[in-house]
Amino acid sequence: MQKADILIIGSGIGGLTTAIKIAQARPDLQIKVLTKTNESESNTRYAQGGVAAVWDFDTDSFSKHIEDTLDAGDGLCDDDIVNIVVKEGPLRVQEIIDWGARFDKTATEESYDLGREGGHSENRILHYKDLTGWEIQRTLVAKADEFSNIEVLEHFFALDLITQHHIGYNVTRLMPNIECYGAYVLNKESHKIETFLAKITVVATGGAGQVYRNTTNPVIATGDGIAMAYRAKGWIQNMEFVQFHPTALFNPAGENPVFLVSEAVRGFGGILKDHNGTEFMKKYDERESLAPRDIVARAIDNEMKVSGDECMFLDCRHLDKEKFIAHFPTIYDKCRSIGVDPMKDMIPVVPACHYVCGGIRVDEMGRSSIGRLYACGECTCTGLHGANRLASNSLLEALVFAHRIKDDIIEKVSSIHFKQGIPDWKATGTMQPKEMVLITQSQKELREIMSSYVGIVRSDIRLKRAMDRLWLLYQETESLYHASHISPHLCQLRNLITIGYLISRSAAMRRESRGLHYTTDYGEKLAFIQPSIL
Ligand code: FAD
Ligand code: SIN
Repeated sequence: MQKADILIIGSGIGGLTTAIKIAQARPDLQIKVLTKTNESESNTRYAQGGVAAVWDFDTDSFSKHIEDTLDAGDGLCDDDIVNIVVKEGPLRVQEIIDWGARFDKTATEESYDLGREGGHSENRILHYKDLTGWEIQRTLVAKADEFSNIEVLEHFFALDLITQHHIGYNVTRLMPNIECYGAYVLNKESHKIETFLAKITVVATGGAGQVYRNTTNPVIATGDGIAMAYRAKGWIQNMEFVQFHPTALFNPAGENPVFLVSEAVRGFGGILKDHNGTEFMKKYDERESLAPRDIVARAIDNEMKVSGDECMFLDCRHLDKEKFIAHFPTIYDKCRSIGVDPMKDMIPVVPACHYVCGGIRVDEMGRSSIGRLYACGECTCTGLHGANRLASNSLLEALVFAHRIKDDIIEKVSSIHFKQGIPDWKATGTMQPKEMVLITQSQKELREIMSSYVGIVRSDIRLKRAMDRLWLLYQETESLYHASHISPHLCQLRNLITIGYLISRSAAMRRESRGLHYTTDYGEKLAFIQPSIL
């Protein structure tokens, strides 16, 4: 058994920032950070475009950033949360700059080189070339290392959150006083399942893009935290709002994850065209290539369906070569590696699953519906994104909420005690899951189901078909799970099936087209806006 005052599951921007903040404020607290692979592998590491924050008050303002966020969110943002994140954002970004994060400056080095992305009315994206996430992850790993009260445990896979359920109570979703006492965790090196007791647990497990066939998310993005919180009977909200990034690189060889061509490329002047070189975004939105993501992704999807082409194109041939390469070195190199020279050829692009706007429902201090359980980052639904996230607001959200979680817990943790009497993990299965092919095949099926029936365009009949198929996969996987030794692959499959169910069920509940949820059965947005909580 291991004990920590604060147990943080995840070492991306949400998890590490929370750990650093708490360690700074309370050097007497023992903080353990778990990560299922290595400390640096996360969605955070792959972020390209940057962090949105109001920086140049001569041209920009909080009210403009608020307006853009609300506009993208299509009526479902929580106004108070948007205000909080936008107004506290610049302070939080300044902190990571003070910790060593480098953001690109203008030629005179006097100010930051602020980029523009879809849905933003001003240039307000701080970035480090097209490697912003890598730079932030590097900074956070180095900063966390400075604190002797932070211990990062690599290759520790969290299986389940511990609640009263594990000491014999019948826990239901409507029970008001569910509490979290830590987590059961698989030590991937010793293959033992360890009990981690904690006074406070923070879930920061990131996204779930691996539930779709094409995704920009790395293979770790399997929605474990959301699935664990759901099994623990926590409230999950807005899962139908899955963001498809309009411009992932189309690579006929196929790859997982697919490579992202940042929206910042369009902010830099790249223009969407069809294979004839004809611009098509005018037909869909007056902001053309820089309209919010839901609009651009649907437009590309529609153009592909109408033309029968397997991709659309991003034309950068008119842009300054030197500046392009300086700003987007990774994108340039990646395109060249598949035989596309962005200065001579149009870049082939397709939409790909990129971000889940929904997740563990938390309040303005990052508190979930379960006592002693907080959540931070992409696994949450804070109310910031509503029905569609504004580009580059995700890293910002994690920074702001990490700070708020610290504020909420630094006093109260002193009056919380470790729960006594937590039993060891009860292993039911004895069989080795020898047939790995069963797991990989089920994961493939799941991704096909979600991509075919719960993708960019939905309908009642497609959603029903998805849920019928998911139910079969669920039953098969549960039998395998209960009969087998625990393995990360099997657990990830189980979590992804839960994510598939949550997305499909929430989508079926929303009888309107709004933001990222577009259905051919319900056109008009309803006047009465309902959150979808499961
Ligand atoms: P992550 O960074 O994904 O970290 C999750 C952590 O949880 C990892 O350490 C993982 O190992 C751990 N974990 C997961 N499950 C378990 C488990 N069961 N047990 C133990 N540990 C576990 N957003 C922006 O704002 N701007 C951008 O420019 C931008 N670009 C992006 C580009 C790409 C290609 C992608 C994929 C995303 C981009 N995003 C961007 C989104 C943003 O990067 C993510 O939303 C954000 O980084 C998520 O941070 P996080 O801390 O919540 O999760
Ligand atoms: C991008 O660089 O296009 C991604 C930005 C984001 O996901 O916010």
